[in-house]
Amino acid sequence: MEIKSFNPPIRTLMGPGPSDVHPRILQAMARPTIGHLDPAFIGMMDEMKLLLQYAFQTKNALTIPVSAPGSAGMETCFVNLVEPGDKVIVCQNGVFGGRMKENVERSGGKAVMVEDAWGMPVDPQKLEDTLKAHSDAKLVCFVQAETSTGVESDVKTLTEIAQRHDCLTIVDAVTSVGGSPLRLDEWGVDAVYSGSQKCLSCTPGLSPVSFSERAAARIKSRKHKVQSWFLDLNLVMSYWGGDGKRAYHHTAPINALYGLHEALVMLAEEGLEKAWARHQRNHQALRAGIEAMGMQFLVQESHRLPQLNAIKVPEGVDEAQVRQRLLAQFSLEIGAGLGSLAGKIWRIGLMGYTSNPKNVLFCLTALERVLTELKAPIVAGTAAAAAGKLLSEQA
Ligand SMILES: Cc1ncc(COP(=O)(O)O)c(C=O)c1O
Repeated sequence: MEIKSFNPPIRTLMGPGPSDVHPRILQAMARPTIGHLDPAFIGMMDEMKLLLQYAFQTKNALTIPVSAPGSAGMETCFVNLVEPGDKVIVCQNGVFGGRMKENVERSGGKAVMVEDAWGMPVDPQKLEDTLKAHSDAKLVCFVQAETSTGVESDVKTLTEIAQRHDCLTIVDAVTSVGGSPLRLDEWGVDAVYSGSQKCLSCTPGLSPVSFSERAAARIKSRKHKVQSWFLDLNLVMSYWGGDGKRAYHHTAPINALYGLHEALVMLAEEGLEKAWARHQRNHQALRAGIEAMGMQFLVQESHRLPQLNAIKVPEGVDEAQVRQRLLAQFSLEIGAGLGSLAGKIWRIGLMGYTSNPKNVLFCLTALERVLTELKAPIVAGTAAAAAGKLLSEQA
């Protein structure tokens, strides 16, 4: 058997992530590999920290990319901040809140759940009531952008409530960073983890994280050793120069980090507010087209994420067949529903580099074509015009 080089097909990635990677980022990743203790590399990493601080809107010194995907960023927050016996309030309104619970329990903590229906945001009143009933809680955690449902929860309000009850916060910003407003310092968030592959337009596999001084102090004063050697921030910091020195911890994913650096330079060039506005603009255009076809969103307008559009599958339509046809005929990837929403929704991502007018019109046209072929009950012939009208009004 002769195995040749792998050449992936060219796709348009409009699912829940990864999003399309900007060519500038792929080019940056192809630059020569140097040593991770090389002064030039260390200089690049110092810039990376500043760029990440901008993306998170923070001055937190402990702001770094974890050398692994978003799930590892999640574990980094939990294994460092939860000690055996700690009570942690976990807000769950989709898949990823469930993973937070797992992380609390595997770190030896006791999870107290605040549950909301999938498709609804975390209810601040429920959090308030739960904190009143559990005054010994140490941490509150929730997901800003629930990728499984397309819902945004209100970080500012939830953080305020947690602070009033003397709890630190852990926020999942994997899908939100770069796409939805997030201001760590202004809102007083203590720990956040994110992902490189969504609204930052980079390849998957890195998880930027940031910890407030309060959170860093709690990590330093732990009674028990962090159970994960790799994710123990006390050790990782010795490489990242928390104390001004650089010691070997693990071999950094050097070329992947060139990619993230380039992605963050591009975000700074565009400007964070402009990137948030772009995501909103393209979402509104997609929405106009989807509604013109007679389809509906899962989530109420006031809580909708612009970067993750959860759309109800029309009656009688085999949603998997639609996705298969989009991939086969148009090389276009959109996402399926998860858990109780499987078969009921599609998840259309407009994240990072993918979030542009060309993709909005392409996706609407392809979806309309496939749904028409399958004789789905939609209004044909108006979607692109409805989206186009909105895009030209906003131009
Ligand atoms: C909200 C959220 N949290 C965590 C993750 C996990 O990230 P990763 O798949 O990079 O490990 C994802 C991935 O889709 C996500 O959407």
